[in-house]
Amino acid sequence: MRLLILNLSLVIILFSCSQEKSNDAILNQRVDSVLSLMTIQEKIGQMAQLSSWGSENRPLNEDLSYLQEIRTGRVGSMLNINGAEMTYKLQRIAVEETRLGIPLIFGFDVVHGYQTIFPIPIALSSTWDTSLVRWVSEITACEATSAGQHWTFAPMADVTRDPRWGRIAEGCGEDPFLTSAMVIAQIKGFQGKDLGLKNTMAACAKHFVAYGAAEGGRDYNTCEVSDRTLQEIYMPPFKAAADAGIASIMMALNDLNGVPSSSSSELKQVLRENWSFKNILVSDWNSIGELVTQGKAENAKDACLQAFNTSIDIDMQGNIYANQLEKLYNEKIISEKEIDNSVRRILKLKFLLGLFDDPYLYSDPVREKSTLSKPEFIKASEYAACQSVVLLKNKSNILPLSQKTGKIAVVGPLSDDKSNILGSWRAIGEPDSAVSVLEGIKTKYTNSKILHAEGCSIEGSSKNGFEQAIQAANNSDVIIAVMGERSPEVNKTLSASDISLPGVQRDLLKELKATGKPIVLILLNGRPIALDWESKNIDAIAEAWFPGTKAGNAIAKVISGEINPCAKLPVSFPHTTGQIPVYYNHKKFGRTPSPNTKEQAKYDDGPEEALFPFGYGLSYTQFEFSDLALEKNKLPKDDSLNIRVTVANTGDRDGCEIVQVYVRDLIAEVTRPILELKGFQKVYAEKGRSVEVRFKIAVSDLGYYNIDLKHVVEPGNFELMVGNSSVNYLKTKFTVID
Ligand code: NOJ
Repeated sequence: MRLLILNLSLVIILFSCSQEKSNDAILNQRVDSVLSLMTIQEKIGQMAQLSSWGSENRPLNEDLSYLQEIRTGRVGSMLNINGAEMTYKLQRIAVEETRLGIPLIFGFDVVHGYQTIFPIPIALSSTWDTSLVRWVSEITACEATSAGQHWTFAPMADVTRDPRWGRIAEGCGEDPFLTSAMVIAQIKGFQGKDLGLKNTMAACAKHFVAYGAAEGGRDYNTCEVSDRTLQEIYMPPFKAAADAGIASIMMALNDLNGVPSSSSSELKQVLRENWSFKNILVSDWNSIGELVTQGKAENAKDACLQAFNTSIDIDMQGNIYANQLEKLYNEKIISEKEIDNSVRRILKLKFLLGLFDDPYLYSDPVREKSTLSKPEFIKASEYAACQSVVLLKNKSNILPLSQKTGKIAVVGPLSDDKSNILGSWRAIGEPDSAVSVLEGIKTKYTNSKILHAEGCSIEGSSKNGFEQAIQAANNSDVIIAVMGERSPEVNKTLSASDISLPGVQRDLLKELKATGKPIVLILLNGRPIALDWESKNIDAIAEAWFPGTKAGNAIAKVISGEINPCAKLPVSFPHTTGQIPVYYNHKKFGRTPSPNTKEQAKYDDGPEEALFPFGYGLSYTQFEFSDLALEKNKLPKDDSLNIRVTVANTGDRDGCEIVQVYVRDLIAEVTRPILELKGFQKVYAEKGRSVEVRFKIAVSDLGYYNIDLKHVVEPGNFELMVGNSSVNYLKTKFTVID
């Protein structure tokens, strides 16, 4: 019987392999059948992507000069076209009016929601909840595809160790393991199991690679990263994306170790050879043209050749491929065969999306109307926002704030904001439909008197509004100060040389503090803020990031205790800007800082460690960890660590805890990080109850890049840490043997 089952499963495996093979063969045949009909101009047309903006400043759909380009087959994909009706109109031109009727792909930055806006990616990463993140991406894909979108330029897979870089908001933080997990969850959510379904869309991991390592945190700036750090920190999320079957990867705008990514043969080798990545490579916005400004290419034609040789298939809004590729072909500098390789990848995606079967599948105004902002999507957005609030401080358990509180002053420049709270990539999200913190608090605290004054603006130096805010504070029992940053705007990079609260917000906090009333600080922002003064002087601090459409309701639920916060920081918060970089997984120092010694890796004028470390976040209940146990303490390289730990909810509320597993490789050929995240789980425990949490981690995942830059797992001693942050854990040891 057993033999029969084994034989049967073998047949099934063989059948599904050959099925896959024949599906691939059919797909390739279909692609080739289209390719064989195409002229060189039509092929090049597929490699050009145009935006509906003439420039980034112009309103959507105003400049329709691209219509003629579509008609003449000079465009293969568009970005920034919105709505079932508009995408239908353009698709019709491509399908009905061009010689071959090849459908267009519509791409858009659908990053954290389409019309229903979810928390920004760094906030979603703070949930440490991959199922939630997958669900958010599924909903986002559902909305976006109903409005004609086929392709999102997300997830951003850039690990970021520098919070001066404003685009840290769009990523998943400072850790490659957490970022990879979040990236995979997003890909699964966007792409689903079948790209051909009408509610799934192609994803794009961006920006390859180390875009977030821009020097000084200045967007687009050059970056210098050692090969080892590149392999261990910046590459893994992209590798994870490639392994997860992502449909496309976008090249970074900046240069890495002297070579702009859009012209890097080294990066091409990593993608196309080492990782066998067979899907689309797209440039970033005009990154091919910028090779000239970077001084890497002599002119547009040279830039075109370099990008083409990097195997970039699609030129986003640069008009370089459209205007230069044919010349290179005519001069026999590039061959038709090479062009065909790119066009095949593009046509393949069009087939996989089902566009050759039904080009209008996604452009259905009826579905669009019934899908956008569905009540259950809005509810999901509120849930995600609740789950992403990180409680940083809660002196004397001032939170949760009783609903019997008599008078509450809601102050601060973001207290009644409905726009910044939507975050950076708000797609078609409308501020009018968003809920401000003030509105959320008014809805929740119906029996309290709510006094409101903004006090100051987010930036700027005017203190004219201070008096009103102080008056509101004086007349209340508690102050809720809602402060932070503006979310990025077009033409502003949000790169900052000072990451403390902008403008006069801290001055306002100082005046509020002088009233003697307790203060709850709600932060709305997209990066770690240097909170040295605030952490010493404010009673409670909650990092709510930019929470999206239902910001106000979510924050009110957390403040009131209806939701018990359980998010954890995916990135370290420094005391001051000057401490940057201050990431948790730094190398071991020769002279480890200690209080009374000179000549250590420390500052004389301030702390060297993070103010709020990676993995940190409070709850309204308490968790205790005990009984950390390893099934075996000596393991061969092909074995797995089986870890067990008990997590007890010792407080008086039910709650969730994020259990984190770190390892430390004690001796290696090169210096190794003091801690590396290798696992995490979100667990729920009722008050007074304990749960046993188990992890299985393959020893092969404990490798590193040795002196010869080879990935090796070496025998030796390791420490294993399990806890609820990168500084609070239980510890044990194990040895890897040959
Ligand atoms: C430039 C940004 O760097 C990239 O992230 C985005 O996807 C494209 N513009 C398209 O909007």
